Amino acid sequence: MKEYLKRLPKDLQDLISLAGDLAYSNNMPVYLVGGFVRDLILGVKNLDLDIVVEGDGIKFAEVLSQKLNAGLIRHRRFRTATVILKRHLKVDIATARREYYPQPAHLPEVTSGVLKDDLMRRDFTINAMAISINRQDFGRFIDCFGGEEDLADKKIRVLHNLSFIDDPTRILRAIRFKQRYNFKFEPKTLKLLRQANRLKMLEMVQPQRLRDELILILKEERPLKQLIRIKELIGFDFINSGLSLSKNTLAFLKSIESQISWFKRKYPKRRQLDIWLIYFIGLIDQLNINNIKLICKKFVFRRGEEKRILAYKKLKPKFIKELNRDKIKPSKVFSLLESLSYEVIILIKAKFKNANLKKRIEDFFEVYNGMRLYISGADLHKLGLTPGPYYQKIFHRVLNAKLDGLVKTKKGELELIKKITTRLK
Ligand code: CTP
Repeated sequence: MKEYLKRLPKDLQDLISLAGDLAYSNNMPVYLVGGFVRDLILGVKNLDLDIVVEGDGIKFAEVLSQKLNAGLIRHRRFRTATVILKRHLKVDIATARREYYPQPAHLPEVTSGVLKDDLMRRDFTINAMAISINRQDFGRFIDCFGGEEDLADKKIRVLHNLSFIDDPTRILRAIRFKQRYNFKFEPKTLKLLRQANRLKMLEMVQPQRLRDELILILKEERPLKQLIRIKELIGFDFINSGLSLSKNTLAFLKSIESQISWFKRKYPKRRQLDIWLIYFIGLIDQLNINNIKLICKKFVFRRGEEKRILAYKKLKPKFIKELNRDKIKPSKVFSLLESLSYEVIILIKAKFKNANLKKRIEDFFEVYNGMRLYISGADLHKLGLTPGPYYQKIFHRVLNAKLDGLVKTKKGELELIKKITTRLK
């Protein structure tokens, strides 16, 4: 595997050599494993280094993070840690472990083990390969379950019959990898997946774990492709029993897809969208508000996420009505949309065909949202106004006038301020 490692970007190669050196000086053998090895062989970019340590993973992570002056997050229960480096690079470090599932669908009990034990506890053959980065056998490939062959044959295969029962989130993971790489299920794996689904294993999983898997699915390059396969294989009961992927929902999600591309193309430098959340809100839009609240409660979303989910459902009718009017002042469009997140605005644009509405939203992004005043606080000060909360009010009034085309120059802005302030006196 040395050849593969040589193809990596220089900073990754350096990081891997450093890990190998530290393994030597700390007498703890280390291996690259999991998704990193899979993607290395596939030639897919992956900046998440996955390392297994035969010894004490957390201690190794501490040494590595100190050496790199990088952040460290420890997960003591699982004897794992994450070293966070700049430029999106991160290293997941695990202590080689054996796992034992005391109850299906619950988190496993963990004891220390060697590399082979660690590979055996993994989900699919393609994720259970390793590469030694130790001095004595740097680059040695370890593939106990035929992962390389499955990768070449484009197959998702579990390591043992109870894989989906032990950890039903693997049902969602299997679909995610299959769709991501355009692979197929090895026939027995497909049978086991369907069986686990018939046994409603996903319902036994802690909802937050399901939520995290669902978010990963919606963060994939082509979430629609993922959802279509979920519909075909397992349905959406694991989110809510009333949920389906009807023709209407599919059409809405397609429209969402094109609106997201529009936004990304047009405004590559604006803030990053929470794309997964837009798709999620689109998917559950078919449900009534009570069911949506139930989902929020079950999945315990972050506050900002729940806020956007409910904002779309609750405010949609009002916004549609206002934005559909024949006549509406730009300042009104601005005041309506300014209070919403970009995610919700994109959903509204995707949902409705009305050309007026679409144009108004485009104007918001294109013109109104970035509009700045010529005047500043210093100008108000020069006019003899003592700083105070009403500065904001004045700015607001002037901005509205500017949005509506009533003032165009700095002089105009200043004249308007004088008018406003004489009225205030
Ligand atoms: N793993 C597992 N069972 C799970 C989750 C993870 O066996 N339920 C193992 C797999 O070997 C996987 C590795 O842990 O490769 C790392 O997991 P994760 O980072 O979630 O996945 P990746 O394979 O790295 O996938 P991605 O490319 O989506 O990050």
